[in-house]
Amino acid sequence: MEPSDVQRGLEDVVALESRICFIDGQQGRLLYRGYDIRELASRSTFEEVAYLLWYSRLPSAGQLADLKRRMAELRVLPDALARTIDSLPSAALPMDVLRTAVSALALLEPEETKPGASSIGGAQRLTAVLPTILGWIQRRRSGARPVAARPDLSQAAYTLYALLDREPSELDARAMDVALILHADHELNASTFAARVTASTLSDLYSAITSAIGTLKGPLHGGANERVMELLAEIGTPDRAEEVVKAKLARHERIMGFGHRVYKVEDPRATILREWSRKVGEERGNLNDYALLRKVEEVVHREKGLYPNVDLYSGSVYSLLGIPHDLFTPLFASSRVAGWTAHVLEEYDDLRLIRPMAKYVGATDLTYVPIGGRT
Ligand code: ACO
Repeated sequence: MEPSDVQRGLEDVVALESRICFIDGQQGRLLYRGYDIRELASRSTFEEVAYLLWYSRLPSAGQLADLKRRMAELRVLPDALARTIDSLPSAALPMDVLRTAVSALALLEPEETKPGASSIGGAQRLTAVLPTILGWIQRRRSGARPVAARPDLSQAAYTLYALLDREPSELDARAMDVALILHADHELNASTFAARVTASTLSDLYSAITSAIGTLKGPLHGGANERVMELLAEIGTPDRAEEVVKAKLARHERIMGFGHRVYKVEDPRATILREWSRKVGEERGNLNDYALLRKVEEVVHREKGLYPNVDLYSGSVYSLLGIPHDLFTPLFASSRVAGWTAHVLEEYDDLRLIRPMAKYVGATDLTYVPIGGRT
């Protein structure tokens, strides 16, 4: 590539080496540290996956028990942070509150913000406390009692408990566990890249995660599943799917939950979540969203040749679990934080300031005109 060539959106640019996550976009394969996501989703738990991402190996039974104990201790929200969240506008978007909360936590936990030895502690702290922050955001607006740390619950069950103020059924907790596993990492996606850029300046872990949360917020990234639910509401019944989707495509609108920069076939996470959308829907006796999404898939594939991505079915699963739509993206963050922090630690270990170049296409020969002489 000539220095003057522009790769818009850094498409196909290989920016760094990593040992965390492998995507084969042609075959639809996704590996965390060498393990296939399909196997992890069917056999492991989020805590095991977080350990795998942070320490590059699956934990022994003792290591897993230690991690779970540690993370349960780290769930507790500092009073000062609870007060900070309470002081924010009540109508603020949960994703904005989450970003502010993580940034504020950095001020309250200065030791954890230092790169180096304390970073693994920071990774565990952030991953453990994010569901509590989400629970606080949700309960504050619904008037329910504050979140108890509940060290007896797994991360998935605790996440649902924190959000819904009730213990989930086994099926619901497993559905959440699978969703957390599937969202835990995805190579150099935009938010992970943002985290690594921040870390590459030797800034602290909490700042890197604050950057990542701001990046995940956008509808082309983490915000897509919320928009999928808006699309379903607009369509209403399967017989209207064809008409609504075709009209959108004719207006060159994007259909959320479809397409991917890396996958040229179906995203393997979508395949797994489709199954969970059906399973949880069947258990609830409500397959409405599932049926609508199947129809939308058929039309989008026929008309545009596009495949579903992870966001197509995640929203329908979360909805069935009773999670409000504006918490979908914060929930995504509460899982991806395991991957973000693993990437930040890898960046610290192999540090190289990330600083690409721009091709300047503006003027070069202007002469300064004093303000009185300008029109
Ligand atoms: N709906 C309609 N058309 C689409 C879609 C879509 N969802 N995705 C891509 N296309 C079309 C584009 O319009 C373009 O068509 P054209 O060549 O006729 O103009 C072509 O496919 C290529 O699209 P690009 O934007 O170049 O593809 P890119 O790799 O940049 O996009 C992206 C990837 C942003 C995810 C895109 O597919 C999209 O906007 N999808 C919808 C949003 C979404 O679901 N995001 C979640 C992604 S997964 C995640 O972040 C967790």
